[in-house]
Amino acid sequence: MNTLPTVRLPTGETVPALGQGTWNMGDSSRRRKEEAAALRLGLDLGMTLIHTAEMYASGGAEEVVAEAIAGRRDEVFIVSKVMPTNASRRGTVAACEKSLKRLRVEAIDLYLLHWPANVPIAETVDAFTTLKRAGKIRHWGVSNFDVDEMEELIAVPGGDAVATNQVMYNLRRRGIEYDLVPWSRQRGIPIMAYSPLDQGRLLRSREIEQIAVRHNATSAQVALAWCLLQEQTMVIPKAGNEAHVRENHGALSLQLDDKDLAVLDRAFAPPARKKPLEST
Ligand SMILES: NC(=O)c1ccc[n+]([C@@H]2O[C@H](COP(=O)([O-])OP(=O)(O)OC[C@H]3O[C@@H](n4cnc5c(N)ncnc54)[C@H](OP(=O)(O)O)[C@@H]3O)[C@@H](O)[C@H]2O)c1
Repeated sequence: MNTLPTVRLPTGETVPALGQGTWNMGDSSRRRKEEAAALRLGLDLGMTLIHTAEMYASGGAEEVVAEAIAGRRDEVFIVSKVMPTNASRRGTVAACEKSLKRLRVEAIDLYLLHWPANVPIAETVDAFTTLKRAGKIRHWGVSNFDVDEMEELIAVPGGDAVATNQVMYNLRRRGIEYDLVPWSRQRGIPIMAYSPLDQGRLLRSREIEQIAVRHNATSAQVALAWCLLQEQTMVIPKAGNEAHVRENHGALSLQLDDKDLAVLDRAFAPPARKKPLEST
C-alpha cells in the first residue's frame, strides 16, 4: 500500500507527492540497468509517479521507464510530455502513439505539453481531448507555462481540464510564489515541481548543509523536505542510482521546524515582485 503524502488532481484522483524524474536517463546504454533499478526501488518505496518525456535521450528515457515498470503497470502513474514542435493536432496524436510504444503501455496517465508551442494552444488541447476520448491518455497538462499562458489556456474550449503545470521550483527558484502559485491554488491546479535539487546545485549551500547536520539528515533531504511542505505540489527529483533514491525517499521523514524555515527564507528569499518563469 502507498503511504506517501498525496496531491489531489482536479478530477479528485490522488497521486504521490514525491515521484521520480528521468531527465538524462537512457543517454548511456551502460547506465540503463542501474537507472531502471533505481526507478524500481522508487516504486517499491511508494514513489510511483514517474515522469519522463519523448525528448529525453530521444525516447531513450521512456524505454528505461518501460524496463523499470515491466510487470508492474498497475502500480505506476506515468507522466510523459510532447515536444512543442510536435504539438499540432496530428503531431500530438502521432507523438503520443510513439511514446506509448516506447513505454510499452496502453495509456499514459498524464500527458504534458513540454513548453508553450507556436501552434495555437486550442489545437494542442483539442488533440489532448481526442487522445483522452480514445483512452490513450487519462489526464493532460502543461509545463513551463507562466500565468499569462495559463490564462490563455483555460480560456480555450476544454482548456479548463488542465491537470497540472510542471515548472522549475526549488529553494533557489521561488519566483512562482509571487503569482503562479496563488493563481494555481485558487483554481485547484496542482504544480509539479521539477529540478527540486536545482539539478544538484542546492547541495552546495552552506545554510542547507547546516540544517541537514542539525537533523542528522542530508542536504538533498532538506531541499526535498522544503518542496514537500508546499501545498498541492508534486516533487519529482531525478536519481540515477539506488542510494540516491533511498536518500531522497528519506526526505519524507524529515520535519523542518520554524527555525529551519526562517533560515531558509533568509538564505533563499521569497519573491517580492514578478519574475520571469525560470527553466534552466
Ligand atoms: N518540464 C521541463 O522542462 C523539465 C526540465 C527539467 C527537469 N524536468 C523533470 O524534472 C526531473 C528532476 O529535475 P532535474 O533532473 O532537472 O534535477 P534535480 O532532480 O533537481 O537534480 C538531479 C541531479 O541531482 C542528483 N541527485 C539526485 N538525488 C541526489 C542525492 N540524494 N544526493 C546527491 N545528488 C543527487 C542527480 O544525480 P544522479 O543521477 O547521479 O542521482 C542529478 O544529477 C527531471 O529528471 C525531469 O523528469 C522537467
